[in-house]
Amino acid sequence: MPSNVIVGLQWGDEGKGKITDLLAKNSDYVIRYQGGNNSGHSIHIKNSYFVLHLVPSGVIYSGVKCIVGPGVVIDPKSFIQEIQNLESMGINTSKVFLAKRAHITMPYHCLLDQYQEEALGDKSIGTTHKGIGPTYVDKINRTGIRVLDLLNLEVFHKKLKYHIDLKNKIFTKIFQKKPLFFQSIYEEYIEYAKILSDRVVDAVYEIHEAFHHKKKILFEGAQAMLLDINYGTYPYVTTSSTSTGGVCTGVGIPPNFLKNFIGITKAYCTRVGFGPFPTEIGSEMNDVIRKKGNEYGATTKRPRRCGWLDLIALKYSCMINGVNYLVLTKLDVLSELEIIKICVKYKCNDKIIQYFPANIKQEVKGIYVDLPGWKQDISHIHEYEDLPKNCKKYIKFIEVYLNLEILLISVGSERNQNIIKNKSLFFKIFT
Ligand code: GDP
Ligand code: IMO
Ligand code: MG
Repeated sequence: MPSNVIVGLQWGDEGKGKITDLLAKNSDYVIRYQGGNNSGHSIHIKNSYFVLHLVPSGVIYSGVKCIVGPGVVIDPKSFIQEIQNLESMGINTSKVFLAKRAHITMPYHCLLDQYQEEALGDKSIGTTHKGIGPTYVDKINRTGIRVLDLLNLEVFHKKLKYHIDLKNKIFTKIFQKKPLFFQSIYEEYIEYAKILSDRVVDAVYEIHEAFHHKKKILFEGAQAMLLDINYGTYPYVTTSSTSTGGVCTGVGIPPNFLKNFIGITKAYCTRVGFGPFPTEIGSEMNDVIRKKGNEYGATTKRPRRCGWLDLIALKYSCMINGVNYLVLTKLDVLSELEIIKICVKYKCNDKIIQYFPANIKQEVKGIYVDLPGWKQDISHIHEYEDLPKNCKKYIKFIEVYLNLEILLISVGSERNQNIIKNKSLFFKIFT
């Protein structure tokens, strides 16, 4: 059975966790394919709130198998903490597995991340300091430590020794920082290896087997398109292929295993960290949206920068990801506004453009169409027909511009605060 992919279309935090959890109900597998614990995916069910960083957002359903795929980078300490947290909240994590080929984030990666950011000064990226970039650098440099290496005492000892020696030279000589001590890190991590060993699988064979047994597989993206290492707002990006192309390389499957590419977009935009943001709005309105949308990072708690919906960026994202259906989240957050702006062009050095520039800079600014607000709470609505007229106009405007159908509209953080816009299509895809 061809599989479905959930992908963020903006700068992350679109509500992928909420939507993955919702769609996981009818899935046999939920699999992460890239990124690491830089993610923060929130799930809200009645009075319970879960924030997942590495564990796939299918974990709340005890029958769903969750795999942290080969393309993900895993911080064992953070993963173990997350599992313990979930267990303490009554969630059964026995079906959460780790791919053998996934790379391990070590303490020196987190320190390097921090020191590199400090060295960049006002050019810093605003990373999460979770060591994601340096882990992928070691992977690409062919010196990384994989999950299977962590399980082999001899190999782990050798690889760790190499890295501690090398990183200590960098820490002391380049950054004038303290060195790390091999033995304590080695001892700590072999304990983690013991805790994790039962969860380690050959994800590539497991996923292929599941596919051939017609299992329903949902791939959960982390971060989002505009943070993609190749196609995002470089260098203000993360270090993995966040786009749907990353699924194939991230889990070892061919493209023809994939069928539906479900793009998640907020009804507006947010960004954490630095970098260009053409539709970013002035401080007052920024505060209104941040407050109503509770726009604070799920991983770092940093306030998110807020802006209007950017259709130029969204069209670019849909194009690269091959999105065939959209999910629109956080529409309820716009409910109080008199006028809602929507960006349809950019102004770039006095030129008007209608594409997403490869070298997008802070100076690029949005040009807007003003749409009337609906000034009415919609967070309790479940049927599309019951939405206010102006709200439907806003939705229609997006669909027409992108020439794509919005399948689902999220109007609140809780699992059931949704409007399935096209029910027959939705149930055809997800049951
Ligand atoms: P992710 O990284 O894409 O999974 O998104 P995050 O979980 O980091 O951020 C999304 C935030 O918005 C979380 O706090 C969610 O609980 C919340 N959320 C998701 N959908 C909605 C929605 O439709 N309305 C509102 N008000 N909040 C939502
Ligand atoms: P989810 O999965 C929002 C941002 C950081 C920074 C840049 C690089 O919750 O949507 P990194 O630590 O990855 O090297 O930081 O990417 N970033 C995210 N922003 N949501 C995320 O994940 C993010 N993961 C990384 O803020 O700007
Ligand atoms: Mg998030």
